[in-house]
Amino acid sequence: MAEKIVLAYSGGLDTSVAVRWLKENYRYDVIAFTADVGNERDFSAVEKKALKVGAIKCIVKDAKDEFVKDYIFPALQADAIYEGQYNLATALARPLIVKMMVEVAKQEGATAVAHGCTGKGNDQVRFDVSTNALAPGLKIVAPAREWGMTREETIKYAQKYGIPVPITVASPYSIDENLWGRSIECGALEDPWTEPPADVYVWTKSAADTPDRPAYIEVEFVKGIPITLDGKKLDGVSLIKELHELAGKHGVGRVDHIENRLVGIKSREIYEAPAGTVLHTAHQALEEMTLSKDQLRFKQKVAIDYADLIYNGLWFAAHRRDLAAYITSTQQYVTGTIRLKLFKGSCSVVGRKSPYSLYSFSLATYDKGDKFDQKASPGFIHLWGLPVRTQSQAQGFGEKPRENK
Ligand code: ARG
Repeated sequence: MAEKIVLAYSGGLDTSVAVRWLKENYRYDVIAFTADVGNERDFSAVEKKALKVGAIKCIVKDAKDEFVKDYIFPALQADAIYEGQYNLATALARPLIVKMMVEVAKQEGATAVAHGCTGKGNDQVRFDVSTNALAPGLKIVAPAREWGMTREETIKYAQKYGIPVPITVASPYSIDENLWGRSIECGALEDPWTEPPADVYVWTKSAADTPDRPAYIEVEFVKGIPITLDGKKLDGVSLIKELHELAGKHGVGRVDHIENRLVGIKSREIYEAPAGTVLHTAHQALEEMTLSKDQLRFKQKVAIDYADLIYNGLWFAAHRRDLAAYITSTQQYVTGTIRLKLFKGSCSVVGRKSPYSLYSFSLATYDKGDKFDQKASPGFIHLWGLPVRTQSQAQGFGEKPRENK
C-alpha cells in the first residue's frame, strides 16, 4: 500500500502540479489540505480541483477564528512589524497551517507532509522548522524545491497530465492572501526603480481615487485586543474585515518595502494591510497612554525580536513563547478607545482615552488647575546633573578637555 502524504494545497498551478509529481516521483497517495485563513476563495472549487488532479482526499478547515485569536492579535499586542513595515500576514499564517497539517497527518496515518514553497523564500523555512518542532517523525517533501522546473516547464507538465492551467497564471505576480493582509512579489516589482503598477493593489484605493472627506473611526481595546468598531461589538474576524473595507476605501495600508529575507536575499515586496495598519497605529497610541516610559522602551526592543522570530519561522521556539508571556503581562491595562482619521492614504490618531490613562491633565497643563510642583524641579536637576558636573570639573568638557599626561 502506498504511503500517505498531506500536501498544503492552494488550488493554484504549483500545488496542483505537485499532487501529480508526488505520485509520479514518490508513489505517494496525496491528501490535499487547505486551511481557510481568510483568503476568500471558492473552497468547494478548490476541493473539486484537488480530486480532479489526483488527490485521494481533500480536507478544508476553517482556520479564521484561531488565526485571529492565537496569531494575529498576539502579534498586534506585541506591535510586531518586521523591519518597521510588514505586519507579517503571510509569516503568521504558516505555523497555524503547519499545526493543522500535522493534526491531519496524524488522523489520516500519513508519514509525510509537503508544501509548494520554493528554495528561495522564507515560507519553506517556516513550514519545515514548524513541522520539525511539532512532529519530528514526519518526512517533509518540497516538490518545487526539488523539481527544478521553470514556470514554462511547470505549465507544460500540467498540460501533459491534463491539469487545468488557470488564466490567472497570466498574472505576473506571486500573491499570498489572508485575513491579515496581501503580499505581492515578482513581475514588474522586481525592478526596485519601477513604481508598482496599479493592478498590484486590490484592497486599497489609490489616494487620488479616495473620498475628499475624511472618515473618523473609533476602535476600543480591552487588554490590547480590539473589541468594538465605532461602538459596535464585533468578533475579531468581522472587525478586521470591516476595517479592511473602511480603511481600504481611503487608501490606507499600502506598503512598498525592500525586505531582508532569512535566506540572505533582499526582495521587493508590496503589502496591502488596511486593517493591520489601523489596528497597529491605534494599539500603539493606546500603549503610549497606558504604559510607563520603561515599559514602552523595553517593549519596543522586544517587538523587534518578536517580529524577527515570527518572520524567521521560529513561532514554535520556547523563546517566542517566553516573550509572549511578557507581552501578555504588559497588556493588563491597555484598555481604552482610540479615535482615528482616515484620509487620502493616511491614518492618524486624533483622540485617545482610557480608564487607566497615565496622562494627567493637572500635571501636564500650563493653565489653571496645575498641580505640578515647579519648586521641586531645581533640587531634582541638581542631583540629576551631579555626575555630569563632577566629571566635567575633574576632566573638563567641550572646547577645553583637560590634557591627560
Ligand atoms: N515576503 C513575505 C514573507 O516572507 C511574503 C511572502 C509572500 N509570498 C508570496 N508568494 N507572495 O512573509
